Amino acid sequence: MNILLAILLLSGFVYAGGSKFDTGEKIYKQTCVSCHGVDGSANTGISFIVNPRNLNRTILTEEQSYQIIKKGAHFNGASADIMPSFESVFNEEELRSVTGYITKNFNTESEQRVKKLMDESAKIDPAKKAKMLKRGKKIYGRNCSWCHGVIADGNGDATRNPEMSIFPYNLNKSLLSKDQMFLYSKHGGKFWGTAKNDMPSWSKKYDDYTLHSVVMYVKEVLGAKNETDK
Ligand code: HEC
Ligand code: HEC
Repeated sequence: MNILLAILLLSGFVYAGGSKFDTGEKIYKQTCVSCHGVDGSANTGISFIVNPRNLNRTILTEEQSYQIIKKGAHFNGASADIMPSFESVFNEEELRSVTGYITKNFNTESEQRVKKLMDESAKIDPAKKAKMLKRGKKIYGRNCSWCHGVIADGNGDATRNPEMSIFPYNLNKSLLSKDQMFLYSKHGGKFWGTAKNDMPSWSKKYDDYTLHSVVMYVKEVLGAKNETDK
């Protein structure tokens, strides 16, 4: 654990020393507030190489949030290691309870928002699959591999440019489903709660068909399929 995190955690314990909260709330106020803020908006003025996310805007389901809290963001694809793993800090019940707290208080609408945005987006025509994979490969190579790497491991050339200070995800470790990846690419990181606009919205440049094609290529050829896609 780094020193800064240790200090944050300790100061949290002073801040919420009493026990007037339920478990999830208590853990959140002791441990998460310093980075994500009382209202989850991460408006704390704190500054890291990758800043904490606004939990009110997350694309994640409750189960996916739980996985991030348990294993940390790096385990699930983040290049940076700022969002720690809390597996060794809290037991199963406590982890579930703090996940429940943020879900109930901050991201009540995540799943409905994803559903609504999918309903508004163009649908995939299964008959076009071969064409889509071809198009996806081309667009991925042209626009995504620069940051995410040729094999989507998060190690593109841009990560070696010291002026950029950019931390793309290893898409092969991402928890996101096909639909979520499509919507994340379409609307960009900021829409989904990141502090900076490092991962741009691609909706101005590409239509839904093209973005579905890129995600299809990432999931089916580069191998980023996960539990949620089965
Ligand atoms: C040291 C600061 C820090 C602390 C403490 C911290 N987080 Fe985070 N959190 C982050 C950062 C930074 C990210 C974004 C990670 C990335 O993308 O690299 C993040 C991401 C997340 C995400 C994923 C959100 C998304 O939309 O992808 C969840 C959920 C989350 N944090 C919950 C928590 C909870 C619950 C706690 C307390 C148990 C906590 N965090 C403590 C910094 C922190
Ligand atoms: C300029 C660099 C850059 C480019 C180009 C880029 N990304 Fe990203 N991407 C990022 C960064 C940085 C993140 C980490 C989260 C954030 O900042 O939004 C990210 C996150 C993502 C995520 C979320 C993964 C997760 O598990 O949360 C997806 C999906 C994604 N990018 C897909 C794409 C696709 C598809 C393309 C090409 C159309 C692309 N990206 C182009 C920088 C980039």
